Amino acid sequence: MKRRDFIALGAVAVASGLYASENGEITTSRSVDAEVLIPKALNFDPKKLEGISEKMILSHHQNNYSGAVKRAKAIEEKIVALSSSAQPFELGSLKREEMVALNSMILHEYYFENLGQSGTISSQSKSMIEKSFRSLIEWENEFKKMALSLSGGSGWALLVYNHRLKRLENIWSWDHLHGLWDSEIILALDMYEHSYQMDFGANAKGYVEVFFKNINWDVINSRILAIR
Ligand SMILES: [Fe+2]
Repeated sequence: MKRRDFIALGAVAVASGLYASENGEITTSRSVDAEVLIPKALNFDPKKLEGISEKMILSHHQNNYSGAVKRAKAIEEKIVALSSSAQPFELGSLKREEMVALNSMILHEYYFENLGQSGTISSQSKSMIEKSFRSLIEWENEFKKMALSLSGGSGWALLVYNHRLKRLENIWSWDHLHGLWDSEIILALDMYEHSYQMDFGANAKGYVEVFFKNINWDVINSRILAIR
């Protein structure tokens, strides 16, 4: 390596937090942003939900959601601390677990945010759903049926806006990992058993019906309004 290339590499390395160790290996000095990986508080009073107990919501929020946030932080710390001599599969395994934990965190945040039984569907939201699914009832039937296809297993039922398709679409996500790229989440429904078993046992259909009664339409309307 020529001297000027070495100096140039040094400038890039310092800017990005990369440093060469004594044996010449590049290591990272980055750290986990602990202020980002903090659970968000509920934005509604769980006592006021219809047909969903406060106990189940708090357990879900404290154990499953907050657990995912803590797991994401612990995995990121492991990635940061991983030796530069680690094998690619070691990093690959951690990156997979990182995606599972981060997506679980993010999807739970969409889910809790769109609960709370507030407002009604706006004319703009109604019109976009009708344009994508012909009618509100056809969208609702398809969404509920797709959600029920996950009962007995696990996953997420999502209404998304896809920029490539230029319309809304119902999709499901298994293991927090599946998704339709270039989409924005409009409505998220957690179909993991922990989200309904305490109140509904194996009655996933009852849970899905009650979920619809507790949608925060103000949040859905603002998510649709924000689509660009
Ligand atoms: Fe969950």
